[in-house]
Amino acid sequence: MEALSETDSTPQEGVPESVRRSLDHLMRSGEEFRLSVSSDIGLAGRYGAAWLLATDSLLIAFSPNGETPDIVHLPLADIRSVEIRELSGSGVMKVRTESRGATVAVFSKALIGKFSSVPKQLEILVKEATPEWRRGEGELVEGSVGAGRGKGKRCERCNRVIPHWWGVCPACLDKRKLITRLLSYTLPHRGMVALSLTLMLVGTFIGLTPPLLMKSLVDDVLTPVITGADAVSRAALTPVITGADAVSGAALKAAAAEASVSPVTTAERTRQLGVLVLLLLLVHVAQNGLGAVRGYIMAVIGQKVTFDLRNQVYRQLHRLSLSFYNERETGRIMASVTQDVGRLQDFISDGLQEVIRDVLTLLIICGILFYLNSGLAALVLLPTPFLVLATLKFGKRLHAIYRGLWRRWSGISALLADVIPGVRVVKAFAQEGREVIKFEGRSEALLSGELRVARIRSLFSPVMAFLTSIGTLIIWWVGGEEVIGGSLSLGEFLAFTQYMWRFYGPVESLCRLNHRFQRAATSAERVFEVVDTPPDVDDRAGAIQMPRIDGRVVFDGASFAYETGSPVLNELDFTVEPGEMIGLAGHSGAGKSTLINLICRFYDVQEGAITIDGHDIRDVTLKSLRDQLGVVLQDPFLFNGTVAENIAYGHPTASLDDIVSAAKAANCHEFVLDLPDSYDTLVGERGARVSGGERQRISIARAILRDPRILILDEATSNVDTETEVQIQEAFERLIKGRTTFAIAHRLSTLRHSSRLLILDKGRVSEIGTHEELIEAGGVYSRLCKIQTDMSKIRAW
Ligand SMILES: Nc1ncnc2c1ncn2[C@@H]1O[C@H](COP(=O)(O)OP(=O)(O)OP(=O)(O)O)[C@@H](O)[C@H]1O
Ligand SMILES: [Mg+2]
Repeated sequence: MEALSETDSTPQEGVPESVRRSLDHLMRSGEEFRLSVSSDIGLAGRYGAAWLLATDSLLIAFSPNGETPDIVHLPLADIRSVEIRELSGSGVMKVRTESRGATVAVFSKALIGKFSSVPKQLEILVKEATPEWRRGEGELVEGSVGAGRGKGKRCERCNRVIPHWWGVCPACLDKRKLITRLLSYTLPHRGMVALSLTLMLVGTFIGLTPPLLMKSLVDDVLTPVITGADAVSRAALTPVITGADAVSGAALKAAAAEASVSPVTTAERTRQLGVLVLLLLLVHVAQNGLGAVRGYIMAVIGQKVTFDLRNQVYRQLHRLSLSFYNERETGRIMASVTQDVGRLQDFISDGLQEVIRDVLTLLIICGILFYLNSGLAALVLLPTPFLVLATLKFGKRLHAIYRGLWRRWSGISALLADVIPGVRVVKAFAQEGREVIKFEGRSEALLSGELRVARIRSLFSPVMAFLTSIGTLIIWWVGGEEVIGGSLSLGEFLAFTQYMWRFYGPVESLCRLNHRFQRAATSAERVFEVVDTPPDVDDRAGAIQMPRIDGRVVFDGASFAYETGSPVLNELDFTVEPGEMIGLAGHSGAGKSTLINLICRFYDVQEGAITIDGHDIRDVTLKSLRDQLGVVLQDPFLFNGTVAENIAYGHPTASLDDIVSAAKAANCHEFVLDLPDSYDTLVGERGARVSGGERQRISIARAILRDPRILILDEATSNVDTETEVQIQEAFERLIKGRTTFAIAHRLSTLRHSSRLLILDKGRVSEIGTHEELIEAGGVYSRLCKIQTDMSKIRAW
C-alpha cells in the first residue's frame, strides 16, 4: 500500500522497554508501534522524556511522570483533525475527535522540526484505521490554528513557505542570525559604537604593553644587578666553600669589578627604573580611564538598543491580532517584554563589549607571543582547541536548559498573571491552599532547572581551569628549560608567562560569556518571534481610508471559525440599512459576540465578505474603520485611571463638558458625582473599585463620547437594574438616530427599540425581522419571548 511506504519513512525511534511495559495493557499481543516520536516535555508541562506513539488502531501519548504515568489514548479512527500549535518557547500537538479535543504531545522548540512531519504521518495512519476512509468518505482536516492564520504564507525575507501553525518563518529564526540581527540594532548608534571601538582598540593596545615594559625592566635594568650581586656573593662565599680562613678585600673588589657594576651605570639604571615605573603608572591610568569611558558608552548603547527593542515589541504587540493573544498566556507575553528584553540589554552592554575586547586581546597576544618565541607560542595554543570544544559542548547543553528554564519562568509569570487578578474567585472558593501548591510545584520545577544549570556551570569552570593549567605547566617546563639553557632571557620568559595568563583570561572569559550568549540567543529568539509574527488582521497593501460611514452593513456569505473544523458562524447573509437598530439575540454561544467581533475586524472572515457602504472592510484601513465604531464589549474593561480618563479613552482630547454629557446619556453622571473625587476618582485596576453596573455605564459613556457612526452594544446593560436600563434606553433612543446600531441582549426588553431582530442559532441566522413578524413566525424568538415572562409588559412600554 502506498500509504504504508510513506509511514515507513517516519523516523521511528526506539521505544524504551519500560515504556512498552507501561503500555502493555493497551497493546494487542505482537502489536508493534507504527509511529514513535519522543518529546522533551510531558503532557503536564514538566520537562522530561515523553512519547507519542501509534499502533494500527490507537494513538497513545505517554509521559512517565513518576509512579503514575500520564497516558492518553484514543482510537485512531475517531480522530478528525490534527494540529500543531506553536506557543512561546514550545509547541503542542492537539487532536480533535467528534466530541473532544486532546493534547497529545508537548515539546520544546528544538523539536518543532521533528514534530512538523508527525501530523502527515498520523493522517496516513488514521486513514488506514478508518473504514470511511477506505471507502473514500470522511475528511480529516490537518489543522491550522484557525482564524485564517498563515496557511501557505511565504516568508517575506527568504520566500520559504511558513508552516501553517507557525507565525514566523522558522528558517529566519536561525540562532546564528539572531545575534547578527541583534547587532543590527546598534547601527543607528554607529557613531558611538565606532568611538567605543576606537577607545577599546587603544585601551587594549595600551593594556598589553606592561609585560613588554616588564621584560625591559628585567632584562635591561634588573638582571645585570642580579648577575653582579651574584658575582659578589660568589666571591664572599668562596672561602666557605674552599675552607679558606678569611676573605681578602682585594678578592671582593675584584669580584665587584668582575660584576662590572660601575656607579654611573647603577645611577643610570635607577633612572631607567624610575622611567619604567612611571610608564607603567601611565599605562594603568590610561587603560583604566579609557576603560571607564568606553564602559559608559557601551552601557548607553545597550540601554538605547533595548529601549528601541522594548518599544518595538510593545508596538508589535498592539499590531498583533486577538488570535495571537487567544493562543498565548498574558504572563508569558509579559515575560517576553520585560525579562527577555532585559537580558538582551545585559548582553549588548556587558556581554558584547567583553566579546569584542577579548577577541581583540587574543589576536594581539597571539601576534606578540609568536613574535617573542614561536615555538613556545605554539605550545600556548595547544589547549585552545580543547577549550573551544568543551565550550561548544557545554554551550549546547546550556542552551537547551535555558529554553526549559525560560518556560518555567514564564510559567510562573503566567500563573501570577492568571491567578492574582482572579484572587476574588480563589478566596470565594477557598482555594488558596491549592493555588499555593500549584505555585510551589512550578517554583520547584524552576529550582530543579536552575540547579541543573548550576551543576553544569560548576563542572564547566574547573574543566576549563584544568585545561588552562596544563598549558601553563607545559610553558613553565619548556620555557624554564630554555632559560636555563640560555636561549631565552629571563625578561622574555617572564613577559611570555604574563602574556600567556592574559591569553587564557580572555579564552576563559569567552567561554563564560558563552553562557550569557546562550541566554541572549534564547531571549532574542523569543523577542524576534513576537516581532516577526505577522498580524492575522492587518491593513492590506493599498488599503483605503474608510469614508464617513453611512451605515449600510452587508454580510455576504460570511463564515468564520476560531479553530478550523469547528465553524462558529456559517454563511451569514443579511443587509442592515443605515440608521437601523439591529437587536441580536440567540442562545448563549450562538455566535453573537463573534458576529460583532467580525464587524470590528478583530478577526477576518474566512469565507464571504462583510461590506460597509459597499466597501469590503478588509479593503479599508483598520484605524479609519474603528475610528467610526463605538463599542461596548460584553466584558467591559476599565483601565487603572480616573473616571474621566476612562470615559475619554477613545477621544483623549474631549472637554470635561463632552465627558459629562456622555456620562449623562449613559446614566452614570449621578453616581459619578457621588464618588469621593467625582470624575477624578480612580477606578482601580480593571475598574475594581466600581460596581459591575457602574463599569458598564462608564463604558457606554466611553462609546457614546466617540460619536460613532456604528454603535455596537454587547450586553451593554446586562448588569444594571431595570429602572436604570429604562433610563439608558431612553438616552439611546435619541442616540441611535442616524447611526446603525447592533445591540446584543439576552433580556429581550433591552431590544425593544430595535428596527429589526436578528436571531442567531448555532452560527446561522435563524430568523430576521421585526418583533411582530418574528412573533407571527412562531420560531425561536417567539419561544424566547414566551419564556421571558415579562414579555407582555415589554411591548406595552
Ligand atoms: N477566542 C475564541 N476562541 C475559540 N473559540 C471561541 C472564542 N470565542 C468564542 N468562541 C466560541 O465561539 C462560540 C460563539 O461564541 P460567542 O462569544 O460569539 O457567543 P455568544 O453568542 O456571544 O454567547 P453569549 O450570549 O454567551 O455571550 C462559542 O462556542 C465559543 O465557545
Ligand atoms: Mg457574547
